Amino acid sequence: MSRSTPPAPTAPSASTAANPWARWAALALLLLGLAGGAAWFFRGAAQPALAPSPHALRPDDPQLVERGAAIYAQQCAACHGARGEGQPDWRDRGPTGLLPAPPHDASGHTWHHPDEQLFDITKRGLAAVIGQPNYQTAMPAYAGVLSDTDIVAVLSYIKAQWPAEVRQHHDQINAQARAAAR
Ligand code: HEC
Repeated sequence: MSRSTPPAPTAPSASTAANPWARWAALALLLLGLAGGAAWFFRGAAQPALAPSPHALRPDDPQLVERGAAIYAQQCAACHGARGEGQPDWRDRGPTGLLPAPPHDASGHTWHHPDEQLFDITKRGLAAVIGQPNYQTAMPAYAGVLSDTDIVAVLSYIKAQWPAEVRQHHDQINAQARAAAR
């Protein structure tokens, strides 16, 4: 007679099978909760370090700054000055109607622009960045001349020359630009 009731053992095994599923579900929920909590915690704790732009300047990277110094001497110094002093009367358009090259040192306004904008100006040119294709300027666009890394290097070199308080100010400008872009 006992052989006539084969499903009997399957009933309890089905119910014991339900328990592991419940355990897995509970475990999955727990892990989700932990992951969510960790994500929330790190977002709050380490936000500035989370999303570094590939174009973030690295003035504290000596190798990159050295590479940037060589590029600056070759590509930028003729106009912006060997020490970033710019051309005389750089605020006034000369007889040609073009602006002279502004300083890149603390006396100019290069440091008023966040990293991404400096990168864009150097790579794509001012006309593209301000959205006026006919804008006449002596500032070349370096796309096809300098690699992205070269551009980050030369701008990192420029930033490395700024006094500490100007660098800090520029860090804040970057933080504001990142917050605005989020
Ligand atoms: C042929 C001259 C010339 C060369 C070479 C040159 N620049 Fe310029 N640059 C200018 C001029 C002129 C301006 C201002 C243009 C304007 O506003 O119309 C300028 C503006 C800029 C600005 C914007 C600054 C600001 O405060 O808005 C950046 C950034 C810049 N140059 C970076 C570079 C870098 C980096 C190099 C070298 C890789 C370089 N430039 C090479 C002439 C030059």
